[in-house]
Order: sequence, then C-alpha cells, then structure tokens
Amino acid sequence: MELRFDYQNLLYSNQIRCGITSDIITDMREKCLEAHHDIVSDRHKNILGFYDLPLQDVTPILDYLDTIKDRFDTMVVLGIGGSALGNRAVYSALKAELELKKKILVCDNVDPILLYEILEQIDWDRTVFNLISKSGTTSETMAAYMIIAEILRKKFPTDYKQRMIITTDKNKGFLRDIINREGYPSFVVPDNVGGRFSVLTDVGLVSSAFAGVNIKALLSGAQAMKLRCEKDDLIQNPAYLNGLLHYLYMRQGKNISVMMPYTNPLYDCADWYRQLWAESLGKRYNRQGKEVFVGQTPVKALGTTDQHSQVQLYTEGPNDKVFTFITVEKFNHDYIIPNIHPDREEVNFLADKPLSRLLNTERLATEIALTRAGRPNCNIVFPELNEFTLGQFFMLYEVQTVFTGKLLNIDPLDQPGVEAGKIATYAMMGKAGFEKELESIDAYLQQRNLLTKKPLAD
Ligand code: PA5
Repeated sequence: MELRFDYQNLLYSNQIRCGITSDIITDMREKCLEAHHDIVSDRHKNILGFYDLPLQDVTPILDYLDTIKDRFDTMVVLGIGGSALGNRAVYSALKAELELKKKILVCDNVDPILLYEILEQIDWDRTVFNLISKSGTTSETMAAYMIIAEILRKKFPTDYKQRMIITTDKNKGFLRDIINREGYPSFVVPDNVGGRFSVLTDVGLVSSAFAGVNIKALLSGAQAMKLRCEKDDLIQNPAYLNGLLHYLYMRQGKNISVMMPYTNPLYDCADWYRQLWAESLGKRYNRQGKEVFVGQTPVKALGTTDQHSQVQLYTEGPNDKVFTFITVEKFNHDYIIPNIHPDREEVNFLADKPLSRLLNTERLATEIALTRAGRPNCNIVFPELNEFTLGQFFMLYEVQTVFTGKLLNIDPLDQPGVEAGKIATYAMMGKAGFEKELESIDAYLQQRNLLTKKPLAD
C-alpha cells in the first residue's frame, strides 16, 4: 500500500524541454547531501519533532475519547492555520471512504457568518468543542474561545468544562493557565513541532480519532514514509527528489506549484499543502540575513472540475508552473455507468465503465495535454485512500518542505510575515504592550487617508 511518486514528466524529454536533466541532478548531489546532514543534525538538536511523531503513544487520546464516545457525536474544532487545516484535511479525506459516523466541523475564521452557520447546525447537547492554539494567543482562536466558553457556561452551568477540550503548549501561555485554573480536559502541542507540521500531534489526532479514524494506522503510514525519506540517496527518497526538482524549477522561474487531486476528498489536503509550502518557503531573508525573497506560490486545483476552469491557462498560458497530480487508484465506493442509451453514440462509449475509470482517464488526458505543451508535471499515486496512505502523504510533504528549505538556505520553520499581521491586529484591537506598534499604524493610516482623499484625476 505504498504511495508512489511518478516524476518522469519533471525530467527533460523531447516534450518537456525545460525538464531537469540527469546532469543537473548529479551536479546537485553535494548540495543535497549537505541538506541531508543539516536535517540529521537538526534532528539531533531536537528541532524537527515531526519526524518522531509516528512512534508516539496515543493511548491517552484513545482513553480520553473512550470516556466521551457515547456523549458526543459532533466535534467543532476552533483553531486557525496549522491548528485547523490538518484536522479538516484528515476528515475530508477519509469521511466517505471510511464511512466515518461522527462529524467534525472546523471553524477557522472569525467570520460571523461561518460561526453562525456552524452553531445553527449543531445539537449543543451532543457537541464537544476542541479549541486548538499552540501559542495560546492567536486573536481568532481567542475570540472563538471567549464566545463559545460563554455560551457553554450559560447553557450547561454544571458541566460546561466537559464540553470543551483545549490543545496548547504543555506548560506556557494563556490557554495553559485557563486549563490549570478551570480544569478543561487538555492535550499538548509539542514545543518542537511547528503549527503547520502538527497534523500528526494531538492537534490533528484528537479530532481524527473522535471521528473514527484509526490514528495508529495513520501514524504507521507516516512511519513507513519516514523510513523512505531518511535515505540520503535521492532516487530512493521521494521527499528529497521532489524537493530538489521543485527547487530547480524555482531557479528556472517556475514560481507556482499547482497541486491537483483527482478526487474531492483530497482537495483539503491540497489546502494543507498550500499552507505548508507557502508559509515555510516564502521568505525574505536567507540564513545569513541577506534579502533573497524566495518561495513558490502553491495553488490548489481539483480534477476533473478545474479541467473546465483552469486547465486552459495551465496548458497554454505562461509556462511558470510545476504541476502535481494526486491520483487514487482504487475507490471504496464506485458506480458503473449504466447503458441506458445503447443506440446513442453520443453517450454509449461511457456505458458499463466505472465512474472512477472516467475520472482517472481524464487525469491522464490532462497529464498528456500538459506534457505535450511542455509543462512539467508529476503524479502522487494513492493505491487506495485510507489512513495508511494518508499518513504517508503528510510525512512526505513535511520532509520535502524542510529539505527544500535547506536547499533554499532559508528557515522553513519560522513565519515572521504571519507574526507581523498578528502584531498589527493586537495593536489595532488595543492589546496592552503594543502601543508603539499602534503609533506607527496610526501614522500609516493618516498617510493612507491623505492619499485616498486625493482626487482621482491627480
Ligand atoms: O504554522 C503556523 O505556525 C501558523 O500557521 C499557526 O498554526 C497559526 O498561526 C495558528 O497559531 P496558533 O496555533 O498558535 O494559534
């Protein structure tokens, strides 16, 4: 049940003339080995905690969930970024294929309409909330916490604490204080795992296990991929090879990476990838503090839907993208297209074939079209969509991201650009300690006002 990485169309050929030649790959061997040794050294320094997650003990999660399994059938995740996208990715990927019985809803915005829609559809009595924030400070999540905690207190004065789980840092932060003071059930985001790398920590595992996902199988998949991705030989290590090829395409100016799953359940995995790739690699400074402005803009697309929307641009527009298809070979649920018009050539060619065959034929058709147009593309193949293959996918991309960050000579684990927005929000919302930032924002706003008041004709 191994995930396969078909990278043929990323290499040079008569059709992919911009493709990467084996000579270039050979020239990069030394640099790749350096990146590999850097990763090994970071792991010894305990910086890259996500590598160790597959072997964690999940008994505390399963034991806790056992105590609430008869009480709740819906979990609402309150978090944002790395504290939400993995939860949604796992649930969307597996809910239909595994016929998950319990429901996960993710509120990852401070949009009042989204919150209203979620709160309108739940049965409060049968719903548990799962508040997730590694830092315990993010404005969006803190706002959600205060709104939901207040409603729960009013609706369930005697047992409101049993209706909200909090996942945050083990020792520090506002949320840990609240847990210690009020006694909410709690889980931990490990210190050495960054938000966008945390899907296989309590962050993603609690909601997944609640929904009915076999989290041990998810972790076994991650472990299997980790073993593949620990090899220093590029050809045997799909994360390093894909990272290198994407890096080389970035050097050629292909600054867009399109991930296009050919199945709806994996669309949210492309969203998870979007955050991981963008936030980790999009950096102004390199490790020596020099301005470099690197990164590759991740875009998500859906097959076959976007064949009728984006593929025209992909095939004939600027050749500035690298494409990753995601294919599922065997579906649990499938339909045979019935032969209800045997005498009509317009449709009878489709008859008696599984719907999944049409889907995967169309993927191949898009691959052929892109390849003929000289557009580099690759394919990640899931033999089936289940916990084991999904776990492999997460580990593959986490290793690939860190490796590519090493090649780019930037820090893939920080996110100063995200922090800047968080700080400006604190200042404008009046948080104590951010007065200086507010002054500079005021100056900016005054300037902006002057500019916007200028007549257009000027
Ligand atoms: O990857 C990251 O670090 C971010 O996207 C965070 O996950 C996001 O900002 C939410 O942070 P927190 O979990 O601290 O609320």
